[in-house]
Amino acid sequence: MKQIVVFMGFILFLFAAVVSFSNAEPDSVEKSQLERLDNSVFKNPHRPGAVFEHDDHNDMAQIDDCAVCHHVYDGKKLLEDESSEDSQCSECHSLKSDDENSVPLLRAYHKRCKDCHFEVNKGPVLCGECHIK
Ligand code: HEC
Ligand code: HEC
Ligand code: HEC
Ligand code: HEC
Repeated sequence: MKQIVVFMGFILFLFAAVVSFSNAEPDSVEKSQLERLDNSVFKNPHRPGAVFEHDDHNDMAQIDDCAVCHHVYDGKKLLEDESSEDSQCSECHSLKSDDENSVPLLRAYHKRCKDCHFEVNKGPVLCGECHIK
């Protein structure tokens, strides 16, 4: 009886070892290969760049209007049927709000990304879910 228990224990150990080994590899490879947003405009970024698989994300979230993120304004007025995908967010949203724009870059990103996730109750809202280590 005791031998059977020990043997079963050994089998379980082998099984766990195989599972954890086969999990460890792809996981770490995947994380390092995740597409991340360029955070270099922030001086000394505190966190790893946010994960954002641009095309896959937008397909999955079924966003067909580029201007949901790449918008164009005339003053405070949002212009329909225009988009600014050739510009980076930081070209209009400076680090600190100024006369040209009242929405500083960090708020612009967090508001755009998190507000929608909260609204549709899908997608990450916790720090570590976007700023994956
Ligand atoms: C929905 C995704 C998302 C979530 C959730 C999120 N962030 Fe961000 N965050 C971004 C994006 C996008 C940027 C701008 C690009 C970048 O830095 O990767 C950013 C930038 C930042 C920056 C400026 C760059 C830097 O690293 O210093 C800080 C600080 C930050 N986030 C902190 C936080 C904290 C704290 C939380 C949780 C309270 C949080 N974020 C949650 C997406 C997110
Ligand atoms: C959910 C938000 C979102 C949507 C929707 C979106 N984008 Fe983007 N896109 C971004 C962000 C964020 C960046 C990075 C901008 C930055 O670094 O300042 C980006 C970058 C880009 C870039 C620059 C890529 C590069 O590597 O320099 C292009 C081109 C682009 N998007 C095109 C599009 C087009 C075309 C659509 C519609 C089919 C679209 N985007 C929809 C958020 C979005
Ligand atoms: C061509 C200039 C321009 C670009 C590029 C741009 N924005 Fe904006 N954005 C503006 C202006 C102007 C406003 C209005 C600011 C105000 O009301 O003072 C604004 C407002 C916003 C707001 C607040 C209003 C709202 O829609 O909720 C968010 C969030 C935002 N931008 C996020 C982004 C993100 C994220 C990007 C990059 C994907 C981006 N913006 C690219 C000019 C731009
Ligand atoms: C208009 C709504 C909307 C906006 C804006 C939006 N998201 Fe999302 N996001 C979603 C939805 C919906 C999902 C869940 C998709 C699913 O699982 O079916 C999602 C999922 C995600 C995920 C997890 C899935 C994946 O692709 O890895 C990440 C990370 C993410 N979003 C990051 C961001 C960032 C960063 C931004 C801002 C640049 C952003 N999202 C802007 C709607 C949005």
